[in-house]
Amino acid sequence: MRVVVSGAAGFIGSHFCDRLLAEGHEVIALDNFLTGSERNLSHLDGDGRFRFVWQDITVPFQVAGDVDTVVNLASPASPKDYMEHPIETLDVGSAGTRNMLELALEKGASFLLSSTSECYGDPLVHPQAETYWGNVNPVGPRSCYDESKRFAEALTMAYHRRHDVRTNIARIFNTYGPRMKLDDGRVVPAFLDQALRGEPLTVFGDGSQTRSFCYVSDLVDGLYRLMQSEERLPVNLGNPLEMTILQFAEHIRERTGSSSEVRYHPLPEDDPRQRKPDISRARRILGWEPQISLDEGLRYTIAYFQGLMKKSPESLSEVKPSGPGRK
Ligand SMILES: NC(=O)c1ccc[n+]([C@@H]2O[C@H](COP(=O)([O-])OP(=O)(O)OC[C@H]3O[C@@H](n4cnc5c(N)ncnc54)[C@H](O)[C@@H]3O)[C@@H](O)[C@H]2O)c1
Repeated sequence: MRVVVSGAAGFIGSHFCDRLLAEGHEVIALDNFLTGSERNLSHLDGDGRFRFVWQDITVPFQVAGDVDTVVNLASPASPKDYMEHPIETLDVGSAGTRNMLELALEKGASFLLSSTSECYGDPLVHPQAETYWGNVNPVGPRSCYDESKRFAEALTMAYHRRHDVRTNIARIFNTYGPRMKLDDGRVVPAFLDQALRGEPLTVFGDGSQTRSFCYVSDLVDGLYRLMQSEERLPVNLGNPLEMTILQFAEHIRERTGSSSEVRYHPLPEDDPRQRKPDISRARRILGWEPQISLDEGLRYTIAYFQGLMKKSPESLSEVKPSGPGRK
């Protein structure tokens, strides 16, 4: 297959390109480096089946030749990134998604959208199944991301219903692993950075809010299966193992051998209280569920961050207590 991937230089995008190439496909990778990095794709230099094109997907563009599948992963994803780039985030979910859908329509290709658990907002239903319509503040500080993704889902369904494009929608829950940015403000890199430096772990609120963390290879496997499925409605992809942020901090301390204390800071506005995917649909339709335990995933991730720190021992990250909150 010939696959166009937007957001290819990002955390998930770069791993997804690796998987596509490992499966024998050809990849045309698009990115404008808004939040991604060339470094995430540098290992693919010289691979004849991989081509990178600098492209802002909010601007109309052409891709020469046949395309079998269009995969839209482009969007700032961490609260720090999307609050720094709120307009770009809304643009990429709207105009960017439309341009990618137009490409799929023109080429007769299938289309995969990476949506998010943020569509559920601060959920009133637990765990979150795809049938739940969410509790999103449309004008809050996170709305640039949440509403951008909700619009992108609606647009994707419109292209399916109006133009019969073969679409898939993945609602991705918190995912972690190598190639995350140490300074993107998300809880996994932030805790690891702090623990490895022996600095206090920043916990927002009292730490009783819950999250569920999925290792990136599991997520990529779910996306790959979904891309080949006939399911047109959204499918949750994430790890249903739920824990409080304080429990997670304890895991990080154990795994890194750190004695960092916890330092509490005020909870940011609209920070979700609970997050846990109901993955029954993914289990049933895709035969998918996460395989990598938290311990194993953290081992790979810690090794990656330790490698980065050896290269650049000065502070790579600075978590600002008054910052934009966490995923
Ligand atoms: N990582 C998670 O936990 C998570 C959870 C839910 C959803 N998602 C979704 O998965 C996708 C990938 O997330 P990620 O964690 O890899 O984020 P990321 O920031 O690492 O990657 C996003 C990529 O999109 C690129 N991009 C942004 N705007 C663009 C534009 N206009 N044109 C071209 N490229 C553009 C960025 O430069 C970056 O390389 C996003 O759509 C995100 O919303 C991620």
